[in-house]
Order: sequence, then C-alpha cells, then structure tokens
Amino acid sequence: MFDTNIYTNRRRILKDKFDSGLILFLGNENSPANYLANTYNFRQDSTFLYYFGIDRPGFAATIDIDNNLETLFGNDFTIDDIVWEGMQPSVSDYAEIVGVKRAATLEKLNDQIIGAIKKGRKVHFLPQYRLENILKLSKISGLNSSNVNDYTSEKLIKAVVAQRSIKSDEEIAEIDEAVDIAAKMHTAAMKMVKPGTDERKIAGMIEGIALSFGYGLSFRPIVSINGQTLHNPYYENKMKAGDLLVNDSGAESKLHYASDITRTIPVGGKFSDKQREIYQIVLKAEMNAINSVKPGVTNKELHFEAAKDIASGLIELGLMFGNAQEAVNAGAHTLFFPHGLGHMLGLDVHDMEGLGEDYVGYDESVQRSDEFGLKYLRLAKSLQPGYVFTIEPGIYFIPELIDTWKTQNRFPEFINYDMLENYTGFGGIRIEDDILVTEDGHRILGSKQIPKTIEELESIVNK
Ligand code: GLY
Ligand code: MN
Ligand code: MN
Repeated sequence: MFDTNIYTNRRRILKDKFDSGLILFLGNENSPANYLANTYNFRQDSTFLYYFGIDRPGFAATIDIDNNLETLFGNDFTIDDIVWEGMQPSVSDYAEIVGVKRAATLEKLNDQIIGAIKKGRKVHFLPQYRLENILKLSKISGLNSSNVNDYTSEKLIKAVVAQRSIKSDEEIAEIDEAVDIAAKMHTAAMKMVKPGTDERKIAGMIEGIALSFGYGLSFRPIVSINGQTLHNPYYENKMKAGDLLVNDSGAESKLHYASDITRTIPVGGKFSDKQREIYQIVLKAEMNAINSVKPGVTNKELHFEAAKDIASGLIELGLMFGNAQEAVNAGAHTLFFPHGLGHMLGLDVHDMEGLGEDYVGYDESVQRSDEFGLKYLRLAKSLQPGYVFTIEPGIYFIPELIDTWKTQNRFPEFINYDMLENYTGFGGIRIEDDILVTEDGHRILGSKQIPKTIEELESIVNK
C-alpha cells in the first residue's frame, strides 16, 4: 500500500467535488472457479484500490458528504477463516491503515444505504461489472438487478475519471516498474522465438517471469503467429521460420498498476524483405506518434497522423494508391489499421474502461465516431500532463476483412487488391509502448528501451 496520507488526500480531493449525498464504493469478492473455496486469483476493484488501497475481498466503504463521515465496511475473520487462511488485520485495523475513522460490519452497510434511500438522499455509485456486486447493490437499494447500472452517478464517474486520469509521481513509479518487468518478459521471449517452439511455451514463460518477481499479468498475454487477429487468445501453434510472432503482454505491479507492451519478432531471427518493409512503416508511425506527444495535442490527431504514416508507407510499397491524406479521410487505411492508436493505462490496462470508455477518452470537444476503425479509438481527447497511455499502431493482413472489402469493391481507388494476393499468410505487426505526458512533452515509461528496431530484434533473437 502507499502511505496513509495518499489515500486520505485522494478522498479529500473527491469529497471537495460534492456538496451532499452518500458515495458508495464496493470492493470485489472472491470469485469461485468451480466451487466456493477454489477461487480465481483475487483482483480488487481498481477504484476501491485507488481510494482505500485494501487488497482483500469482502470490503465496501462509504463517504457521507453531509456528515463528513467515512466508513469502512467488512467482516472480521472468524476462527474457521483463520484456521484455513491465517490471521488477518481486523476491519478496524484496516480502517486505521487507510485513514478512515469508522469501521463497521457489512450488515451495517445495508442499514446505512437503506436509511439514506428512505430519507431521499442521493446515493452515488459507479458502474458495476461483477455479478456479485450487481446483486449486492440490487439487494440493498431495491433496484432491479437487470438495470442497477442505469442508476449510476454521472457526477461520481466524472469526478473519479478526472482524478484517476492524472497520475501522481508514486503511480508513475509503479508503472515504470511494471514496464521494467514487461521488459524482462519481452526480452526473454525474444530469445525463445525459435522455429519448432510452441507459442504456449512463450506464454507460460512470460507469466512465470511476472510471478517470479511478485508481479502479475495486467491481462492475458497475446502470443501469436497469427497477429492479424488483434486480441488472439490462442497459443497452440508451433512457430516456423519466417513467421512473425506478436507478443502483446504486460505486467501488473504489486499495487496493481499495469504495463502494456507489444513487440513483433521474426521467428528464426531474420525479417524477410516484405516483413522488413511493413515493420519499418509501423515503427515510423509509432515513433512519430510518440515524438508528437505533448500537452494540448489530441490523441485523435495522433491517431490520424499514424494512419497517414501507414497509408504513405503502403502507397510507397504499392499496396495502396493515391494520396495518403485522401485515403485516410476516406477511411481506406482501416483495412490495414482497423483499431485505435491506444488507450489510457493505470490501475487497469484499459484504464477505467469499466467506468465507461467515453468518459475516459472523450469529452465535450470530441465525440466518438461509429465508423469502422475509428469506433475502436478508446482515447481521442486532448492530452494533459500526468496522462499515461499507450501508443500501438499496427498493420494487419486480415484475410476475412480483405475478402469482404474486395467482394464489396471498397475503395478500389486506394487499395491494390491484386498486390494484396502476395501477402496471404503475412499475419500482422504491432508495436506498443507506454507513454507519460509531461509538462513539456513526454517520456517513454520504463528505465530503458525494450528492443524494437529491426537491428536490435534480429540481434537479440540470434543471441
Ligand atoms: N493489450 C491489449 C491492448 O493492447 O489493448
Ligand atoms: Mn497491448
Ligand atoms: Mn494496449
């Protein structure tokens, strides 16, 4: 946990934004995998971690604005719990650790919420994504479980998003560390990318490295020679010389801050000419986007800048035709680059996505588009000092998408469908780094750069 004053300060800043009402925070419960005592790894709710820091199941908290009263709710371990899981701090010990004056049982939480509702007071709560918490909220509020999330507090969502978006020095230090662990995961993977090796060996080793440092994974790694599938969950292929392996994986620090890094590695240690040409386009798009990061620039601008770099590169190769700007204006580049340039990063790998992506990545100055490609842009708004986000352009050859567009004869003026026939089985290339917006520019997070030029990658794979 951070120092107590970090949590009390965070709550003070939040409280200052409210004149009245009761703010409710639900921590997560253990989630059974196949029977009650055999659970998935516990993951605390990120907003609960942010304001209360307690990394244990079965807690909730309220901030009563009218009475300036904070309460931590939980049940102390019974003797049976202690026999099986060991002694734990009591709820009042935890309350003291995080600077909360009052501790109470979970039953008292029900009383407080029901009492507030009876008095017609506003109860502010955030969108819920775990069924246990939806049911809990439904029970204590009387709302139907199917529409609990229709009653979330927009005021609370906006206040939390505003606060969590600006990373403090201690949060940045956590993300730096998470990137450094990801660097170990990625460089070890690079040395294992040999013909005949199974993808799952790399996936398993990546997870083992994170765990061996006391860290976790920030999401299930993507380790695939079929990198054209953006979030490919499958690890059962054997790598062959000439394949490209996309490794998109990140660590989660002990306090649950995420890193999210992608590297694309030539199996066998040498990029073919075709791979090299496409790789250089993606690398240039990534580096140009990173170099343009500074306060006030919008991420939508960066996204389009990267899209234009991609279109220009593909025009030079002959895979696209015409003028790059016009191709991007028309959306023709989305055949190759169908996703957004990146997303916020913090306690969640897609930071605060559970609170609503549009609150996190958009504001009154920029509306979300529903066009193909652009609809997946998770962060579009103006960048501010303290934002941490990913930059992750890619070029993909997705056979089903190419066939669909070709059948529909989409953008024949921009797309060289004949030449695309030569790229069957190419896969995809993505390169991703984690960036901090500083007062006067940016910093790539992590204490040293993870190999990403063609020379660096070929050299490390061949080591
Ligand atoms: N790791 C998932 C992503 O890059 O969005
Ligand atoms: Mn990623
Ligand atoms: Mn990402």
